[in-house]
Amino acid sequence: MKKGLFITFEGMEGCGKSTQIHLLAEELKLAGREIVVTRSPGGTPVAERIRAILKTRTDGEDLAPETELLLFGACHAQMTRTLITPVLERGAILLCDRFFDSTTAYQGYARGLDMDMVLRVNRFACGFVQPDLTLLLDIDPVQGIERSRNRAALETDRFDSEKMKFHRDVRAAFLDLAEKHRDRFRVIDASLEVSQVHAQIMEAVHARLENL
Ligand SMILES: Nc1ncnc2c1ncn2[C@@H]1O[C@H](COP(=O)(O)OP(=O)(O)OP(=O)(O)O)[C@@H](O)[C@H]1O
Ligand SMILES: [Mg+2]
Repeated sequence: MKKGLFITFEGMEGCGKSTQIHLLAEELKLAGREIVVTRSPGGTPVAERIRAILKTRTDGEDLAPETELLLFGACHAQMTRTLITPVLERGAILLCDRFFDSTTAYQGYARGLDMDMVLRVNRFACGFVQPDLTLLLDIDPVQGIERSRNRAALETDRFDSEKMKFHRDVRAAFLDLAEKHRDRFRVIDASLEVSQVHAQIMEAVHARLENL
């Protein structure tokens, strides 16, 4: 029987997921909990190899959107069986940087693949495993992109309106998912300072822990 807690972090690039996962992990460890941090795509040796295909360009060949969806599915199937389920069964708290809600938002809503198929792939990959709590770090894409740029110091990267539309679509998709799954989603205002974002996250996590 499952005893742990599965928390996922969602939101656009640069919204602060890595920063906040680190802070939450440190605080929960101080409270004496076993914490496992992982990421999607990735987190197991096989899933990391699938991540490499998803994240790096292959010379002379693009990934078809359908291939991309199925690779995310393969990755989630592997993560679920070899990492997520065992970690939760032994009672640990698992913090995951993105999970299948990102697939729904990016491949389903923003890239426009058949939504029913996206949801079916997610369900086939993960079975009954789903997050107990999904923290959506919501931020205006202009501010999110600014943060990513500061981090990467990519000053040459032009502010491209097509890309902005894509990021706005992704934001709307995540907010729609949060509305549809209010039982497990909490929308966090990620535009604030790091400590204020962390405080909102601690409140959401404590509320969930009290309800266990
Ligand atoms: N609340 C905040 N206020 C200002 N800067 C922040 C805040 N949170 C994070 N940052 C900074 O913004 C940048 C992006 O943050 P972070 O890497 O945590 O985002 P991310 O969601 O993990 O991005 P990615 O999806 O690309 O991995 C980092 O340089 C980080 O230090
Ligand atoms: Mg990150």
